[in-house]
Amino acid sequence: MLPQWTIEKKRDGAELDSVEISDFINGYTQGDIPDYQMSALAMAIYFQGMTPRETADLTLAMMHSGKVIDPDSIPGTKVDKHSTGGIGDKISIPLAPLVAACGAVVPMISGRGLGITGGTLDKLEAIPGYRVGLSEPEFFQTLETVGCSMIGQTAEIAPADKKLYALRDVTATVPSIPLIVSSIMSKKMAEGIDALVLDVKCGSGAFMKDIENARALAKGLVDTGRAMGKKVTALITDMNQPLGRTVGNALEIQESLDILNGKGPADSQGLTLTLAEHMLTLADIQITAHGSRLTNGSALAKFEQMVTCHGGDLTAGLPKAGKQIPLPAPKTGFISKCDAEAIGRASLLLGAGRAKTTDSIDPAVGISNLRKIGERVEAGEPLCIIHSNGHEDESQLFQTLETAFQISENPVEPPPLIMEIIDG
Ligand code: URA
Repeated sequence: MLPQWTIEKKRDGAELDSVEISDFINGYTQGDIPDYQMSALAMAIYFQGMTPRETADLTLAMMHSGKVIDPDSIPGTKVDKHSTGGIGDKISIPLAPLVAACGAVVPMISGRGLGITGGTLDKLEAIPGYRVGLSEPEFFQTLETVGCSMIGQTAEIAPADKKLYALRDVTATVPSIPLIVSSIMSKKMAEGIDALVLDVKCGSGAFMKDIENARALAKGLVDTGRAMGKKVTALITDMNQPLGRTVGNALEIQESLDILNGKGPADSQGLTLTLAEHMLTLADIQITAHGSRLTNGSALAKFEQMVTCHGGDLTAGLPKAGKQIPLPAPKTGFISKCDAEAIGRASLLLGAGRAKTTDSIDPAVGISNLRKIGERVEAGEPLCIIHSNGHEDESQLFQTLETAFQISENPVEPPPLIMEIIDG
């Protein structure tokens, strides 16, 4: 079977069989199939789509393009959470230790931020000394002694995805549901987990801007996970405003510590508990008093142990920006908009994120004390506090932040955070 025959078949809308898909992905991973043929197939998939069976086969082929971790030697059900990414989404950081404190094992492979969305690895690296690149024996030992470990993707995990994602980025083939599903699920399934909860973000600060697209992605992720024999639930959650009250790496670690002390903002603390419930349900662990583990110090203790195993030192303090500048409310009223995309852009301007993968970031900068939709503010009260080290163009930053907020004279109903749950 020549690669062009597979491309032609998909171009004309036919269904590829398992062997055609695995041969193509193997050939591409090994360098026998060049980028131009992979690009042509990606574009054919973009236009023609894939059936659930084809998507599952593509996921399986990409997962087996590299190493599949086998944590079976570690007792307990292995369960993870994946978020499609948003602004202020620090939930993995308190969630993994909370779920570990309830008795499940969380082998979490996380990503870095790109563009306006943040990444868990960048946030964790704001903790002095935290190493995201543990060796496999260190990762296993952390899972065994603590119950959770948060590391970065290694070169051996799903290398086909690594190559294909870079190619999709430059060939306008990123926004394709089967390609996104296989990309996310091949990496997650390579962790050797039994169950997965997906947090599909929907709104201005997310990849999926509307509910129809978010639903299609959530359904694709759930169907593919199930076809691979895993227990999977997806939640579609609002990303029209940032999650919690902080955006920026060290600031989000501080909010995560607040959540682990039972004192986080209502939305980020509530979502942490909801996602934990879904993870524990999939892991067949009875949910009793999981909320109290955020107030009795047991989830915090797990987090501190995990940080120590990763070489981090929480006692060294978190990096702090040189200037804290309040953004005053122009009038009294109720917050009717706090646009996630604009806040994400502002945080990028401050230096908290990267425009391209090779950029460096400043862990100290960002935005805190964000006011949420529905809250009342008095004229002159801060809408947020800017944490700056002077990297930004100040007028561009203020212009971006001023467009982020809208204030209404009439009371505004806060939007629901959980929009839909897709559990098959
Ligand atoms: N995240 C991924 O890992 N892959 C995609 O294709 C999109 C988002």
